[in-house]
Amino acid sequence: MADEIPNPPPAGGPAAGGAPTPPPAPAATPATGGATAAVAKPAAATAAKPAAKKDDSRIAPPQKTYVPRPGLMDQIKDSQIWRSIFRHGYPNTVRNRSLAVLSNVFLHLHPVNVRTSGLRLSFTWCMGGLTFFLFLVEIITGVLLMFYYRPTGEYAYQDIIALGEHVPMGVMREIHRWAAHAMVITVWLHMFRVFMTGSYKPPREFNWNIGVILLVLTLLLSFTGYLLPWDQLAIWAITVGSNMARATPIAGYEGPLAALITIDDVKLVHSGDDARFALLGGRFVGEATLLRFYVLHCIFIPLVATILMAVHFWRIRKDGGISGPL
Ligand code: HEM
Repeated sequence: MADEIPNPPPAGGPAAGGAPTPPPAPAATPATGGATAAVAKPAAATAAKPAAKKDDSRIAPPQKTYVPRPGLMDQIKDSQIWRSIFRHGYPNTVRNRSLAVLSNVFLHLHPVNVRTSGLRLSFTWCMGGLTFFLFLVEIITGVLLMFYYRPTGEYAYQDIIALGEHVPMGVMREIHRWAAHAMVITVWLHMFRVFMTGSYKPPREFNWNIGVILLVLTLLLSFTGYLLPWDQLAIWAITVGSNMARATPIAGYEGPLAALITIDDVKLVHSGDDARFALLGGRFVGEATLLRFYVLHCIFIPLVATILMAVHFWRIRKDGGISGPL
């Protein structure tokens, strides 16, 4: 529109008011209605004025844009329920991948970023993961066995026989036994791998110590479980095994320094109150031992092991993921 374009200032002459001539405003902005005004006043002043009425007769009316109705899946994904469960988009970006790990109760123990070398089977042998898997197998099969097994002198042996011969899913006992043996093997191999890759060094020395306790707990799980069939093998194996507790320093009545704990020549640590007695619930393996080992085996040790495993996995994350090659 030619009439909207301001005229150039008169050649050679100053603008009205004697002020130096400002540069002409760009063609698109002026629209102030008078050529002289556009020339004489600064652009800022002209911009403040109300815009001239536009001739919109030649402007096409706005088109109605087509907005498709959201599909059923989109509606579901937009619902509050969906968004309260899935709090991030598809994990195909670094951010969404991090959110996927952080917002998942099972994955959040994993580090958000992991070294590729740490994921290689040849590096970890997956022995820690296998140990954890076998622990889960033990928990599941163990709970199923608890439905059938009674830890008393009268029933324990019979119940074990019944598990093999009469009880449906009695195979659970075999799975429980074999997985226990396998777990002892994998936990040793895991420790060996951690040692060979130098993963006990800072910053992982704390986790190494947690691991040592987990190893002891794994062995104690095997030891306490061994008595539960309540057959001759079990009773004599625990008799032999628990005799070692007699030699516990200070707390075992035959152990080093225990003899020094006396009052007026009366020994305070003796066979009726030492570490072995506490373990067996008596001076020899009896029904009290069976109950004690049952509670240790089914509740106490698995509970402590579960808590320490959570700390173990959390520590792996805090130590920057699985270590790299030496
Ligand atoms: C119930 C026993 C245990 C479970 C379930 C367990 C589980 C795991 C898992 C899943 C990992 C990740 C890497 C991998 O799979 O190798 C790991 C790493 C580790 N574990 Fe264990 N572990 C156990 C016992 C031990 C023991 C006995 C030690 C050592 C005394 C140990 C020390 C470590 C260390 C230091 C790491 C970090 C290794 C690295 O960064 O390369 N753990 N553990």
